[in-house]
Amino acid sequence: MKEKPTTFFEAGMYHNQMEHAPVQLSVTGRIPDWLSGNFVRNGPGMMVLPEQPLKHWFDGMAALHGFSIRQGKVEYSCRFLECASYATARADGKLTYSEFATDPCKSIFKKVQSYVIPSPPNMTDNAKVNVAKIGERYMALGETPMMIEFDPKTLETYGMQELIPDGFAYKTTAHPHFEGDTAFNLVVKFGMFSFYRIHDVLQPKKAISSVFVKNPAYLHGFGMSKKYFIIAAGPLTAVPLELLFWKRPFIENHTWNPREGAKIYVIEKSTGKLKAKFETEAFFSFHHVNAWEEGEELVMDINAYDDANIIQKYYLKELERPDVELPFGTIRRYRMNLRTRKVNAEIRSSACIELPRIDYERYNTDAAYRHVYGVSLHPDHRQGFYNSLVRINPETGENLYWYENGCHPGEPYFIPSPDSKNDKDGIVLSIVLDTIRNCSFLLVLDAQNFQELARAEAPEPIIYGFHSGFFSA
Ligand code: CO
Repeated sequence: MKEKPTTFFEAGMYHNQMEHAPVQLSVTGRIPDWLSGNFVRNGPGMMVLPEQPLKHWFDGMAALHGFSIRQGKVEYSCRFLECASYATARADGKLTYSEFATDPCKSIFKKVQSYVIPSPPNMTDNAKVNVAKIGERYMALGETPMMIEFDPKTLETYGMQELIPDGFAYKTTAHPHFEGDTAFNLVVKFGMFSFYRIHDVLQPKKAISSVFVKNPAYLHGFGMSKKYFIIAAGPLTAVPLELLFWKRPFIENHTWNPREGAKIYVIEKSTGKLKAKFETEAFFSFHHVNAWEEGEELVMDINAYDDANIIQKYYLKELERPDVELPFGTIRRYRMNLRTRKVNAEIRSSACIELPRIDYERYNTDAAYRHVYGVSLHPDHRQGFYNSLVRINPETGENLYWYENGCHPGEPYFIPSPDSKNDKDGIVLSIVLDTIRNCSFLLVLDAQNFQELARAEAPEPIIYGFHSGFFSA
């Protein structure tokens, strides 16, 4: 272990992860005995390609980090997702498939050709964003309509499922919604005519709903209440024809058009019909938080920003700066009256939040939910990358922080205790990068008071990742 403090960028962002066979971790404190299962986190694991620099945090090759927790003991392993995109990047030292903000190098011939005829790139199967149980299978999810099946215990990759064959003109989200055994997802179809579509993930050929859109927005997720799907489209939009000619990487085909405002599409789940379309001031969001109906109103809590500058700030040339200032995302509540068609927005807490999670299984679509967990910038330490965890009560605006000097906690994952009475009665797991000790550990917090119950130290620093799942076993 290094003696001197390392930077967040070196340890948490810009290196290549080592794969690890299962190794027992030393635990300090006490992990509750009832906690039994596999905590798996997805995210970039290979950020340095010898023949081609990646440009953005969202470009890396996916690695899964697994923490098997049983009877207070923790076993850690790490494996890359064995997808085609990873295999070629590892073999060639450069991209063959198009990632979020970096494309494969084009030959001069191909560059010229792309001005004349549509030039679809190879869409990546690098499912680096999220993990979820879809039907009976455990899947790594990204933003192209391809899922990669894996084993939550061994992290072995089983294979790729292409939901829409040859679907280069389709994008989806890594944040499906669940109702019983059914998983729904949003698919954006680009073309002469473009559409936002909602699908049952396992029946991708049959859209539940299809809404025409002239210039589709970049969408990282969507909302769902008991009766409605919600597509909250900020004005970060693409001209579909430009996407078909693909002269620049995916996200760079999108421009921010604040004067167009944001459009919120409300789709009736039972019929698939567009129930209402609300227009509001421009905002940008990666993550929905919760949604429910209250009389005539549809209420949507969303983790939102005034503009899409957060995407610019996640470029590696920005994150490299230790004094980078990330825009503050906050929890906003939109109240949409389905009869009068009026919409009203309100910031519910001043706390910065990103990678928000709720007690989804018990409280999604439920107005009785009271807590959102996320990563944050501590109010006294606003420079640099996310440095704390926060629990926000969107009803009262009350915030509670976990902060430790030099530490960068990843997405917090709430797990209710066996007789849990509410959405703070349980524990929170998070993978924390400690830049002072140059190591990472799995943090176990008591969700009631945000006090540490235990930590288990990993064998090496873990790159800061995206989303996680806990699969009971
Ligand atoms: Co996400």
